[in-house]
Amino acid sequence: MTWMITGGAGYIGAHVARVMAGAGEDVVVLDDMSSGVPRRLPADVPLIKGSALDGDLLRRVLAEHDVTGVVHLAARKQVGESVEQPLRYYRENVGGLTTLLEAVAEAGVRRFVFSSSAAVYGNPPDVDLVAEDTPCAPVSPYGETKLAGEWLVRAAGRAHGIATVCLRYFNVAGAAAPELADTGVFNVIPMVFDRLTRDEAPRVFGDTYPTADGTCVRDYIHVSDLAEAHLAAARRLAGGAEGDLTVNIGRGEGVSVRELVDLIGEVSGDRRPALVESARAGDAPRAVADARLAAEELGWTARRGVREMVESAWAGWCLHHPDAGRR
Ligand SMILES: NC(=O)c1ccc[n+]([C@@H]2O[C@H](COP(=O)([O-])OP(=O)(O)OC[C@H]3O[C@@H](n4cnc5c(N)ncnc54)[C@H](O)[C@@H]3O)[C@@H](O)[C@H]2O)c1
Repeated sequence: MTWMITGGAGYIGAHVARVMAGAGEDVVVLDDMSSGVPRRLPADVPLIKGSALDGDLLRRVLAEHDVTGVVHLAARKQVGESVEQPLRYYRENVGGLTTLLEAVAEAGVRRFVFSSSAAVYGNPPDVDLVAEDTPCAPVSPYGETKLAGEWLVRAAGRAHGIATVCLRYFNVAGAAAPELADTGVFNVIPMVFDRLTRDEAPRVFGDTYPTADGTCVRDYIHVSDLAEAHLAAARRLAGGAEGDLTVNIGRGEGVSVRELVDLIGEVSGDRRPALVESARAGDAPRAVADARLAAEELGWTARRGVREMVESAWAGWCLHHPDAGRR
């Protein structure tokens, strides 16, 4: 079997490519390098520079590399940007997926893994754990493209006999090595790092939510665990599983923003108190995955805790920000 990993030079994709190649799978990466970094990939993983929007290129790569399964991570992922540029997000995330699925169906590829997101749930209702049958109600064009993507994957799978797995990632953090860390500042952990590095106190938005310490609670998943979930999904499909599966990928444990900021203080050595600002409109008090279906169906559970995520993310941040932690 050969797996084509789209977006494989990205933050998550490079971890997936390493884990799959390390487990003995043949992989080939297709990435347009819009935010990819080639040196994240092991030297023996072939990297093709090109877009998931280029149908001719996709057909050529699928044929030339005898691709038998696809892991599709390539996408734009910034929620705020998606509000400003919805047409671009639909074109790249949904249009790119349509073009890819056309090429996949035409080439007779029968296995497909799709990067979805907890953003499909929007602001989940006030439940302890968010299960896969929780109603999906995305609140951004980004989340909409992920939900539309799931529909497209399942419909194409049914029509063309492609076995599919959609993985709904919760809050991804950490790195397997400093050079593989996420370089963007779009999530709470790098945002706090960024504040500390600029000699500013971390910000906490709202501390009167109905949670134990009043701040929002989220489910953080180490990117190495997430990469292993992709391997488990690929192996399930390679083992002959049919039909479709949609699963949450999280730890099933909540961590509050306050706990996270305190942990970042310990790890970075910069324990300045956080500034509490007004709550942001639309932030759900709690969004924690019910992770049982992934355990049952993929035989996968997360192994790494939030301290390991923060420590490895901090090591990656310090590599790119030599001034960090010097104050
Ligand atoms: N990072 C998160 O917290 C998170 C959470 C949920 C879901 N996801 C999803 O995981 C996937 C990967 O995210 P990431 O954090 O690694 O982002 P990233 O930006 O680091 O990686 C995306 C990769 O895809 C490539 N790419 C983008 N558009 C492409 C196209 N049209 N053709 C080919 N390559 C293209 C980029 O160059 C980049 O290497 C995305 O689908 C994202 O929506 C991420």
